[in-house]
Amino acid sequence: FHVPNAVNEPVKSYAPNTPERKAVLDAYKTMWNSKIDVPLYIGSEEIKTGNTKNMTAPHDHKHVVGTYHLAEKSHVEKAIANALEARKAWSSTPWEQRAAIFLKAAELVAGPYRARINAATMVGQSKNVHQAEIDAACEFIDFLRFNVEYMTQIYDDQPNSDQTMWNRVEYRPLEGFVYAITPFNFTAIAGNLPASAAMMGNVVVWKPSDSQVFSAKIIIDIFKEAGVPDGVINVVFGDAQMITDTVLESRDFAGIHFTGSTHVFKDVWGKIGTKISHYKTYPRIVGETGGKDFIIAHPSANAKQVSTGIVRGAFEFQGQKCSAASRAYIPQSLWGDVKEQIITDVKSMKMGSPEDLGNFVTAVIHEGSFDKLASYIDQAKNDADAEIIVGGNYDKSVGYFVEPTVIVTTNPKYKTMETELFGPVMTIYVYEDAKWAETLKLVDETSEYALTGAIFSKDRYAVAEATKALENSAGNFYINDKPTGAVVGMQPFGGARASGTNDKAGSALNLLRWVSPRTIKETF
Ligand code: ALA
Repeated sequence: FHVPNAVNEPVKSYAPNTPERKAVLDAYKTMWNSKIDVPLYIGSEEIKTGNTKNMTAPHDHKHVVGTYHLAEKSHVEKAIANALEARKAWSSTPWEQRAAIFLKAAELVAGPYRARINAATMVGQSKNVHQAEIDAACEFIDFLRFNVEYMTQIYDDQPNSDQTMWNRVEYRPLEGFVYAITPFNFTAIAGNLPASAAMMGNVVVWKPSDSQVFSAKIIIDIFKEAGVPDGVINVVFGDAQMITDTVLESRDFAGIHFTGSTHVFKDVWGKIGTKISHYKTYPRIVGETGGKDFIIAHPSANAKQVSTGIVRGAFEFQGQKCSAASRAYIPQSLWGDVKEQIITDVKSMKMGSPEDLGNFVTAVIHEGSFDKLASYIDQAKNDADAEIIVGGNYDKSVGYFVEPTVIVTTNPKYKTMETELFGPVMTIYVYEDAKWAETLKLVDETSEYALTGAIFSKDRYAVAEATKALENSAGNFYINDKPTGAVVGMQPFGGARASGTNDKAGSALNLLRWVSPRTIKETF
């Protein structure tokens, strides 16, 4: 089972006078005025239901960039029927063909679609160009390339045989269809969740986030051009509750590949549980959900490294990453230097539309998110145990702009130390140097989540201590680096506790969830 060796896609710079800069800005302008109308994609059909919603840009929410069509229950049922019809051929399509289709998709992203998928991510999700490049281009490409390689590693894993008996394992797809629910915050995840299940021979009903329709449309164009057959990945937009309930009514529901909020995932899991005898097979439940990701600095840490870790970990993509750092524990002896550097760095960040490539911070995704963040910021302004040391302003008159905000609290259980805000708000607790061991315990006990975390220290003993004390606190643990930016092929990504089923996106562990192997023993 050999395929081209997977390599990580190099990140382009978008520096002045580069061809990629011109291409992405041209694509941005075209998309800004495109008035695109996005249908449902069911089987070979593109269905315009006539029941539409506007797509707007978070950084200019009065500007309508297009519309998308919402599914009724009958469309979801039709998507399931089409998926099951397509399964007949796709489940027995040779693995080489499946591999070739998704490798082709990777090269389409790398080449002809790169500017478009990045621009769609900038227009529709307000990522700045560098964050779009890392996500929508490089990470998406890496998921496709590496997963094809992991697929062959899985197929290669075969049991022992001898001259009288041949044992083999067939890595069959699940019997039924897979339901993919994807989030707004990573275009790569939106592409990967349906693709990884489909790659393993499954058929998919995909419900993208309402806030990611523009780049979802480009992903669909790429899959189609790469040769994903009609019906293998069906796309329905609309009311998540209705779509999920309809999907879960089907006896052929065989698994869910989910990234999104913890409460939605728990709700779906509960519903599956109550209907478990209804299904032909126990559904696979794979989910990556929330985080309350930490940074802890040891007194031996380098203050500049710590402040950079905090600023980048908390504020890249406005903190809208499940992996974003959102609580930090800094020793008293380092605090003066770390604080000064954080304030300097945050004040130097420019905020505005992603069309101006000099802007680092852009808008948060929608009004609901904006209002939630504004409310926590207002509370911090009034609470006696909290102080805002930088940021704290917000304005939704044009776009949903929230300044990167750092709250310092004297209460290690302050609400923003515990609650996931999913935005550019970082809370810091300053601890007494002598209380290092107690603080490690605090880090572990404060949050229900266990997605990412980081320790900064020059002391190897302290690193070892933290690595042990925090072994269940983060599925991705970083030593002397920010807790974000996992690279496919290097840091398989996922967390436990309330953060998910820890099936590590971008790994064979994840792909294994999408197979139902058959063992065959043949005697001679
Ligand atoms: N994989 C993304 C990161 O590590 C979520 O930041």
